[in-house]
Amino acid sequence: MEDSIEVILQDPGWFLPHYRDNSLLAALGGAVLTASYGLWTMFVLPGFRKVPMRLKTEDRNVPSASSEAWCRWTSKVPYLPSSAKQTANVMKLLEGRRGRLADLGSGDGRLVFAACSAGFQCTGFEINSILLACARSKARWKGIPPTQVNFVSKDFWTSDVSKFRNVTVFLAPGVMEELGEKLIKELPRESQVIACRFPFPTWPSASTEGSGLDQVWAYDIDSIRRLAPVMSKPSTLPAKLPF
Ligand SMILES: C[S@@+](CC[C@H](N)C(=O)[O-])C[C@H]1O[C@@H](n2cnc3c(N)ncnc32)[C@H](O)[C@@H]1O
Repeated sequence: MEDSIEVILQDPGWFLPHYRDNSLLAALGGAVLTASYGLWTMFVLPGFRKVPMRLKTEDRNVPSASSEAWCRWTSKVPYLPSSAKQTANVMKLLEGRRGRLADLGSGDGRLVFAACSAGFQCTGFEINSILLACARSKARWKGIPPTQVNFVSKDFWTSDVSKFRNVTVFLAPGVMEELGEKLIKELPRESQVIACRFPFPTWPSASTEGSGLDQVWAYDIDSIRRLAPVMSKPSTLPAKLPF
């Protein structure tokens, strides 16, 4: 026994490689955890915003205290960039339209830049300051004037969108119904709303492009407003608009 301890002390190399492996593993684990936490705080956490109470509690028998907690944690809209195919589908549905366009939750601005190159005057609403900085620097780098593309550091829930006749959204299923209520109230006549990946649950779409994860839907606000009383009774909801 004493012999073997002496051997160990004289030749520590036999166990040091393991020790080195372990510290390497620990360092690697720490780096992965730090990177995940960084990504989480930069891109996911900013989307964890509550939908204003006014929108959530109207006409619902939900006790206000619990509904506030519910709003805060069910309205998650993390960052996920549009794919090239999804962006192309949006551009197809925007064909023939012009004027001002708002992208609600504009991320790094890819949808906004695509719409801008088709002649729209675009505003991107974004609450994530890193994505906002990225989109703004892309706009500067591309040499696009602020009259054509404008990225604003604003929460779209508390922003007035009444000057936009074109609205694009790529958000999350849990917020679409409330967003629909806001858009019906605020958008001007002849507006079109395009939803990416997650359709409005009770709105019949006027047209659609693509399939699977890249599917997008266009909604004609005037027709949705005409159907609003019918839509409050989901069982009588028509499958498609009669045009
Ligand atoms: C799924 S990403 C879509 C990004 C971009 N529109 C695209 O198609 O690539 C949703 C974006 O909405 C932003 N967002 C979430 N809630 C928001 C809010 N209340 N106001 C403004 N932006 C919001 C998130 O930070 C995220 O960048």
